Amino acid sequence: MRIGLLGFGVVGKGLYDLTQSREDMQVAKVLCLEDITLPDAQVTHDFNDILRDETIDTVVEAMGGLHPAYEFVRAAMEAGKNIVTSNKALVNAYYDDLIPLAQEKGLLFRCTAAVGGGICWLSELERARRAQEITGVWGIMNGTCNYILDNMTRNGLGYGEALKQAQALGYAEADPTADVEGFDTWNKCIISANVAFGVSLEKDGVPVSGISRIAAEDVENFKAHGYVCKLIATGKKLEKGISAYVQPTLFPQGALEAAVPMNYNLISLEGSASGRQSLYGQGAGRYPTAYNVLQDCVDELAGRGFYGPCGEKTAVCNEEKLCYYIRGNADAWLESNKAEAWGNAVVTGPVAVAEAHAWLQNHPEAFLAAIAK
Ligand SMILES: NC(=O)c1ccc[n+]([C@@H]2O[C@H](COP(=O)([O-])OP(=O)(O)OC[C@H]3O[C@@H](n4cnc5c(N)ncnc54)[C@H](OP(=O)(O)O)[C@@H]3O)[C@@H](O)[C@H]2O)c1
Repeated sequence: MRIGLLGFGVVGKGLYDLTQSREDMQVAKVLCLEDITLPDAQVTHDFNDILRDETIDTVVEAMGGLHPAYEFVRAAMEAGKNIVTSNKALVNAYYDDLIPLAQEKGLLFRCTAAVGGGICWLSELERARRAQEITGVWGIMNGTCNYILDNMTRNGLGYGEALKQAQALGYAEADPTADVEGFDTWNKCIISANVAFGVSLEKDGVPVSGISRIAAEDVENFKAHGYVCKLIATGKKLEKGISAYVQPTLFPQGALEAAVPMNYNLISLEGSASGRQSLYGQGAGRYPTAYNVLQDCVDELAGRGFYGPCGEKTAVCNEEKLCYYIRGNADAWLESNKAEAWGNAVVTGPVAVAEAHAWLQNHPEAFLAAIAK
């Protein structure tokens, strides 16, 4: 395999290092913005050097962002090159475009590092779904949020302080919006549900609420009632259809999710034969993530492409009912659904996920967390 590598940052450099000792693949050309030199690969600032090189059979995209990553990946596919990418935003945004294109052209396209970083989640999901029906996928898919929530829980820090520490340690970016508002998890949620259930979910129907409004008083409240808060992505196959959503969720202190420390991820599936299976590990970082990119390259060498078919466009049905912890301005809806008071906050009786998120849209100051069933 001769690789054209797009991007030489955390993941790209990691892949380059991991391929050094291998005989079955070689990074032949690297596209990056900086002026660097490499002993065994040509560095270019012009994507056309890779596109037009007929000896390059595989493009590994590790640049991130939607543009020009999308244009580069699509052009590479039009030119008959196989793709490996770690870019969840790209895969989710262009799922209906890139996955069918790969299938139509008989190309290999894999993106294991896009969900779970160093955890072999999508490749295990591929194996799981070929032998049974998958009825649920869920988990902690963002290490930044887990680090913040874990730090607040263990050390009693406020949100701002915990975020600052995450930034100082390199677990959170200077602009943490994509992580803390749940958008990164949202991309991973939709990709996971698409692969698990063989569909292409209508993204607008998948609600997301993040952790940026959580306060130390909420965490104290959870502790007092025996719960731990995690940001959770969920996809479920229910009688009425597929539900999918991202929201802070409270787990009893003894639950597996409650025990996940630091910046680790824990992603699970429920299968008709296997029951629950969970994968735990590093959701990010140079070598854990590059490890999964490398695994995808090895899989492509063996002829393995995407994890399943690109399914039909499918609307999300979030009628499933959950109880919610909500701290925010009490109003008629909250009062009428109130089951219990936890200090300044309210715990509702069972309400539809769609209804709770619709309420949150109109109450942007409120903090909401579902109670895990
Ligand atoms: N980091 C992780 O642990 C991790 C985990 C899972 C998935 N991912 C995904 O992997 C992808 C890459 O992440 P990363 O952390 O490696 O990012 P990064 O460290 O910022 O690296 C991106 C690289 O791409 C280069 N680049 C950006 N735009 C370019 C362009 N137009 N032409 C040429 N080069 C360009 C950047 O150059 P400059 O530095 O000069 O701008 C940089 O070298 C993202 O999609 C991310 O979501 C990352």
